[in-house]
Amino acid sequence: MSLEKQKLIMLPGPTNVSERVKKAMTRPIINHRGPEFGRLFLGLREKARSLFQTVGEVVLFSSSGTGGVEAAVWNIIRKGDVAIVPVFGEFSERVAETVELAGGKAVRVKAEYGTTPSLAQLGRAIEARKEFKALFLVHNETSTGTAVQYVEEACRLARAHGAFVVVDAISSLGGYSIPVDGWGIDLCATASQKCIAAPPGMALVSVSERLLKYVKKSPPATRYFDIARYSEYGSRGETPFTPALPIFYALDEALEELLEEGLAKRVKRHEVNSAALYAGLGKLGLKFFAATEVRSRTVVAVRYPAGVDDALFRNKLSEEHGILVAGGFGPFKGKVFRAGCMGLVSGEFVDATVGAVEKTLKSIHGATK
Ligand SMILES: Cc1ncc(COP(=O)(O)O)c(C=O)c1O
Repeated sequence: MSLEKQKLIMLPGPTNVSERVKKAMTRPIINHRGPEFGRLFLGLREKARSLFQTVGEVVLFSSSGTGGVEAAVWNIIRKGDVAIVPVFGEFSERVAETVELAGGKAVRVKAEYGTTPSLAQLGRAIEARKEFKALFLVHNETSTGTAVQYVEEACRLARAHGAFVVVDAISSLGGYSIPVDGWGIDLCATASQKCIAAPPGMALVSVSERLLKYVKKSPPATRYFDIARYSEYGSRGETPFTPALPIFYALDEALEELLEEGLAKRVKRHEVNSAALYAGLGKLGLKFFAATEVRSRTVVAVRYPAGVDDALFRNKLSEEHGILVAGGFGPFKGKVFRAGCMGLVSGEFVDATVGAVEKTLKSIHGATK
């Protein structure tokens, strides 16, 4: 990737894309009801199945990741349904609010931001409810840089009560291995612009057979995100609505790259590089927002040292070093910056980021002394 033309994107999405993926977007526009699209669609869906580690249904929405979350909620929740939602940041709170928008009751299992609810806490919430329709679990809270460490156990607990299990793996799938069939996940959602390293614009959603059966029997109050409709069209290599063709091309190429690398290797690369990023930033004396035991592998949230202005820091990093990081969310705006560690992330990216952060902090401290 040429850094002269393109900034190094160390955001928690969107992330860097390869030249090969960028080039794919310039392929000719085709008839999305023709055989050429059918071949593309079926090939892409197969690749997505490998990413989700499922032999089941995968549907593709021309939407950002939020579309995948909307699909999860609206396909499962009917008026009055109870959903258990661990809430430990902005994205998990949004899931709880979406459940309420759909007429459901969200039972929030809360944890202080920077931590996650414990498995025991979740277990108690489940036991207290017994009857609930679904567990909606955000795996990786992008707003705080924390990751739930017990996804498999949580799935087991919820399934033991017959509930549907939904995992928002938007900022984690591909950086972590999430075996959807192995763990019994009914719906797992991810997005193109994170660990897959494609441009933004597609949501990918795995759907279990029992969920599909339920949706066919009890149609959801959504047209655009009706997963049964996507499944029906998908069986003949189509999407119900006009797909974002250039993003489809790019996603196909990015998944091809991912599978060429191998899922296990990609996951390991994320693990190794985020460890290096935590170590490098830690050596600068920086403190992290997330509690050590729940630190995310794909989003590193860093507390600003006293006296460092967020806008000044990020502008300098961008203008003087060509590196983009994100600011904090809500109450942590100005107090935290977040570095993505996703997709094409490498040792070179990590070294460049740590070096630039060090120089930027020094120049800010120098100027304020
Ligand atoms: C965990 C999580 N859920 C949902 C979303 C929403 O995705 P999008 O911004 O692509 O709609 C994000 C985006 O960063 C996310 O990190």
